[in-house]
Amino acid sequence: PRVIFSGIQPTGIPHLGNYLGAIQNWVRLQNRAAPDDTILYCIVGYHAITLPQDPAHLETERLNMLASLLACGINPKTSLLFNQDQVPEHAELAWILNCITPMGWLSRMTTWKSKLAVARNASSEDEINDSMLNLGLFAYPVLQAADIMIHKSTHVPVGEDQTQHLELAQDIARAFNHKYSDDLFPTPQQLSTPTKRVLSLRDPTQKMSKSAPSDKSRILITDDPAAITAKIRGAVTDSISEITYHPERRPGVSNLISILAACTSEEPNLDLGTIARSYQGKRIQDLKQDVADAVIAKIEPIRKEYEKIRAESAWLRDVSDAGDTLARERASRTMSEVKKTVGLARM
Ligand code: TYM
Repeated sequence: PRVIFSGIQPTGIPHLGNYLGAIQNWVRLQNRAAPDDTILYCIVGYHAITLPQDPAHLETERLNMLASLLACGINPKTSLLFNQDQVPEHAELAWILNCITPMGWLSRMTTWKSKLAVARNASSEDEINDSMLNLGLFAYPVLQAADIMIHKSTHVPVGEDQTQHLELAQDIARAFNHKYSDDLFPTPQQLSTPTKRVLSLRDPTQKMSKSAPSDKSRILITDDPAAITAKIRGAVTDSISEITYHPERRPGVSNLISILAACTSEEPNLDLGTIARSYQGKRIQDLKQDVADAVIAKIEPIRKEYEKIRAESAWLRDVSDAGDTLARERASRTMSEVKKTVGLARM
């Protein structure tokens, strides 16, 4: 049986990259799970606070994220949906893993290196400056490994930007098993979608992200049809009028084609070159119109559902309490085994 696990930070409404790279796949895996599979999805508040967060704002973002995941189709009756920050065992295992993870492994993480590079050149008003390079940010991937391992997860559906973190989690799981000569932890496998890297609509050399300065660079799952159309129409492409699929040479157009495929097909293994050829003789505006229509068809029901669910605060709290309780039970079982294994069992 598989244990499918993933997490998302409560740092803003999910964008199309989060949705097509991860959440849509979470829903698909949930809906096609075998009876003995276990599916867990969590909102990772402990990861969010590795960067500065306003406490009141963070509370709101956590509720927004819960409502977003439910609106996207996560069913709390079949998936264990919970808040990482309400399950202390995640942090407890992270500490034990900190004690077997060489600092060199963490220094090599590109997420860390890029923040380091920004901070080194930053002025005090910049997004990241030197004082924000805290120990938690450095150890971020170890906490992620703990999230995965505490539930003995076997499969982790994430986008491409998480590949290096997942490889680290595999290394840490192996290191733990090796050190304590035990096979307590499975080696978690990454599950990706064909849209594992959705690109920014303003700068197609970058991934779509929550932190990019321009709102026009990303589509949120709560955007209305007019906003979606405007953002897709404004998407940066190139000066070639023909439509071809070539992700290296033509990232902007290729990004639009892959978004189109991911929004129109249930089985998103379509040959993107074939889609491109179906636009032979057509203009980029025609493609953009179709992309906008496809994204709206995908997002509009989610947006409406979000508005409805977000108003049901009492129900949201019930869902999260129930999930947190179950996750804690599950995590505490693993934690007892771990503590026994490392010599820290109850006396
Ligand atoms: P986060 O919150 O940054 O992103 C959530 C998910 O969205 C994917 N994603 C994308 N996929 C395709 N194209 C994009 N432009 C794009 N942007 C984001 C991410 O790959 C991710 O799957 N560290 C994780 C959260 C985490 C986690 C975990 C994940 C904490 N513990 C344990 C898996 C297992 C993160 O920051 O995701």
